[in-house]
Amino acid sequence: MVRKSVKKTIGPQRVNQDDGPPQSLAAAIARIDELERRQKSLRRQLREARRASRAAQLDTSFALELERRRSLELEEAYYDTVLRLTRASAYKDQETGAHIQRVSHYAKVLARHLGWADEEQELISRAAPMHDVGKIAIPDDLIRKRGSLDGGDRLVMESHTLIGASLLEGSNSRLLDMAREIALTHHEHWDGSGYPHKLIGDQIPIAGRIVMMSDHYDALRSRRSYKRGIDHEATYRIILEGDGRTLPSHFDPKLLEIFAASHKEFDAVFEQYKDESQR
Ligand SMILES: [Fe+2]
Ligand SMILES: [Fe+2]
Repeated sequence: MVRKSVKKTIGPQRVNQDDGPPQSLAAAIARIDELERRQKSLRRQLREARRASRAAQLDTSFALELERRRSLELEEAYYDTVLRLTRASAYKDQETGAHIQRVSHYAKVLARHLGWADEEQELISRAAPMHDVGKIAIPDDLIRKRGSLDGGDRLVMESHTLIGASLLEGSNSRLLDMAREIALTHHEHWDGSGYPHKLIGDQIPIAGRIVMMSDHYDALRSRRSYKRGIDHEATYRIILEGDGRTLPSHFDPKLLEIFAASHKEFDAVFEQYKDESQR
């Protein structure tokens, strides 16, 4: 095989078989042998490099998978801990577990209609239940007070937004960060009439706007010790047309549009996760 390639390589040069290869031919053969040896060695090195690269890729994907699982576990641990804190504050607020569940589902409905990715929908449905976590620090007698609150009491009550945000701040968790944003802004109104900072329009983070609408729908429908719950049709009209206390200008116009088109999904969530006392 070597000699064949030699003939090709040396072309028209005359080769005398009897006298043995001429000097130049011997040198060419030696050179070709050397090149073939080098080629073999390079192929071996290439095979080894490919093997090493495959092993490195496996190592990297294993490390990434491990990292992904660890951060999921960490998020789960955060979620579990804060959910317990949320339940504790809900006891105090006389809110029910069903209210928390429903707000989570309405928020997911709105996020889905806004076109959010599945992962983001899941994130807001997990963060939404923590909206009132700050009520854990509000005095019981104030929380149980009926009727409208006067200036000082109202300010203390409104501070549940700031307290909730401070309870949830300072972690690297996306879940807790969104929950903090929601706790702080779920009473802000699109027209600037909300609290605690009287933010206007899209100064209010979208997660806060979503939970504000979700919480409001549920508050209107729910029966409390001091008020009747109202049916879906009446709630629908109040949100879209206002009743003096609730005004359409309180809501993000885009979310109002979505609510008008998907309100039956809200009703379905309310019916599916009804409180025992409302069945
Ligand atoms: Fe609240
Ligand atoms: Fe609520």
